[in-house]
Amino acid sequence: MAGIDTNCMTLTRFVMEEQKKHPGASGDLTMLLQALMTAVKAVQTAVRRAGIANLYGFQGTTNVQGEEVKKLDVLANDCFINMLKSSYSTCLMVSEENETVIEVETEKQGKYIVTFDPLDGSSNIDCLVSIGSIFGIYRKVSEGAPGLADALQPGTQLVCAGYALYGSATMVVISTSKESGVHGFMLDPTIGEFVLTHPTITLAPKGKSIYSLNEGYAGTWNEAVKEYVNNKKFPKNGKSYSSRYVGSMVADVHRTLVYGGIFMYPSSASAPKGKLRLMYEANPMAFIVENAGGLASTGSGRILDVQPSSIHERCPVFLGSSTEVNEIIELYKKHNIQ
Ligand code: AHM
Ligand code: MG
Repeated sequence: MAGIDTNCMTLTRFVMEEQKKHPGASGDLTMLLQALMTAVKAVQTAVRRAGIANLYGFQGTTNVQGEEVKKLDVLANDCFINMLKSSYSTCLMVSEENETVIEVETEKQGKYIVTFDPLDGSSNIDCLVSIGSIFGIYRKVSEGAPGLADALQPGTQLVCAGYALYGSATMVVISTSKESGVHGFMLDPTIGEFVLTHPTITLAPKGKSIYSLNEGYAGTWNEAVKEYVNNKKFPKNGKSYSSRYVGSMVADVHRTLVYGGIFMYPSSASAPKGKLRLMYEANPMAFIVENAGGLASTGSGRILDVQPSSIHERCPVFLGSSTEVNEIIELYKKHNIQ
């Protein structure tokens, strides 16, 4: 074994093979994913060199959510926007960093809408903890010029979703449907390609006993979340659960996908819809988790069923192994929480 696979399954090759299964496919989605992967490679390079290239710290502005924008947030956002525009496959974009939808110049427009968080977990950038990018892809639904209605689609309409994790290695996880499954591709820096390393990722109904949420907010939890976490810490039978929380959604969801357990970002009295944004954080992750065999709920309903009314709206998130998420859903019913 020289350590080189002369016939490796790259992400490009995988997507092209998937495209061939749909004889009518135009190849636009393949082009779009190619553009996204170029953006991810550029972002991962910037993330790896940030300390050397003076890319840590704040840009000096705040975004639409009132959060201070970091230099890497801006760089990642520019990469995603420019690569997607030049792919001729996208007509409209929704980014965490832009107040309104971003319309592609008419001559470069294609049929897809892309929602994305170019760099998620910003608070972890400067201390070298894992961060990521998240994206969701929809088809344009209106006639004529693309508009807000094209962007405000529920997660059930997703054509494809995925994320990139900039962790101890860089990995992209994508899915187009439950039938075709969820697949993980690791970046091989020696050839600059994403290589299939985790085919058909599946979430067992009961994975490892891990719960993941920000425990510092325990005083703001509703009765259902309080009871769930209490049951895990002080079980009547058996061992207590482990607690793991990175504070980067991509890293926490990826661990949940690989090991099992539950990731939670509940609502609180001051944030009745929680913190995470529906269109470019909750929905793509819910799509991936469901397609891997898990569940993704707001506590009182399926995340993918939520009809968005604005592009930056928020939504409580409970996702992971079905046994755990079902336990939360039952507690929401028991305590009559909507
Ligand atoms: P960001 O998009 O500004 O980085 O915020 C989203 C992040 C998620 O990655 C993570 O799950 C959450 O914020 C952590 O928030 P908190 O610090 O409140 O626990
Ligand atoms: Mg984010």
